Amino acid sequence: MVLQYNLITTITENLGIGKDNELPFDLPTIVEYCETFCAQTKDKTKKNLMIFGRKTWDSLKDDEKPLFGLINFVLTSRDDLDVSKYPDVYVFHSWKDMNDKLINPEFKKKYETIWIGGGTELYDYAQKSEHFFRAYIMRLKKFYESDVFFPKLVDNVRRIDDERLPKGIQFHDGVEWEFEAWENTNLPKN
Ligand SMILES: NC(=O)c1ccc[n+]([C@@H]2O[C@H](COP(=O)([O-])OP(=O)(O)OC[C@H]3O[C@@H](n4cnc5c(N)ncnc54)[C@H](OP(=O)(O)O)[C@@H]3O)[C@@H](O)[C@H]2O)c1
Repeated sequence: MVLQYNLITTITENLGIGKDNELPFDLPTIVEYCETFCAQTKDKTKKNLMIFGRKTWDSLKDDEKPLFGLINFVLTSRDDLDVSKYPDVYVFHSWKDMNDKLINPEFKKKYETIWIGGGTELYDYAQKSEHFFRAYIMRLKKFYESDVFFPKLVDNVRRIDDERLPKGIQFHDGVEWEFEAWENTNLPKN
């Protein structure tokens, strides 16, 4: 598999991911946990990379960009999105253009894991793509009012043990949550 898309999301009990173009919850410890998890690399000379949609980009404060200190790819149809003042941030107008960059031999040396950071359309596209590898879901055991939701997870996944994840129910910021990892069962054989 040349490219491996890994979805990463924090979802509420009602499958919400966003509200008024922000997160539906204020859970700093859990968000920091996500950040630390996404930033981990085996090769310390490389960074991980996160792809997300323009609305998620807009939802970030200036000092949060690039998100999680990773290389950021932003998908938009607009021609006027200026990210030149941010390091390690790139704008693309299609998945094909992003993939061309991701497989560029020089650029490939810079990154390790490809995270798909949302929102809804990107999660759905990525999990149905031939490049879908895993979905990492931080599942909150609490209802939060939301207006953007995680799409239905595809059927061709099985839950896996990833030794990096904490086992069982966790408790932070006054909320119970669980970290799940799901893997595509249709992965190419080699
Ligand atoms: N809980 C979590 O883990 C999590 C993660 C991420 C985001 N969020 C939340 O989710 C909400 C934002 O998500 P969202 O689903 O509304 O929006 P989004 O996915 O962040 O952005 C959608 C935009 O992405 C661009 N786009 C998507 N597919 C494209 C394609 N194939 N080609 C070109 N451009 C494309 C378009 O931008 P243009 O309109 O510019 O063309 C589209 O309007 C916010 O509330 C955010 O806080 C939560």
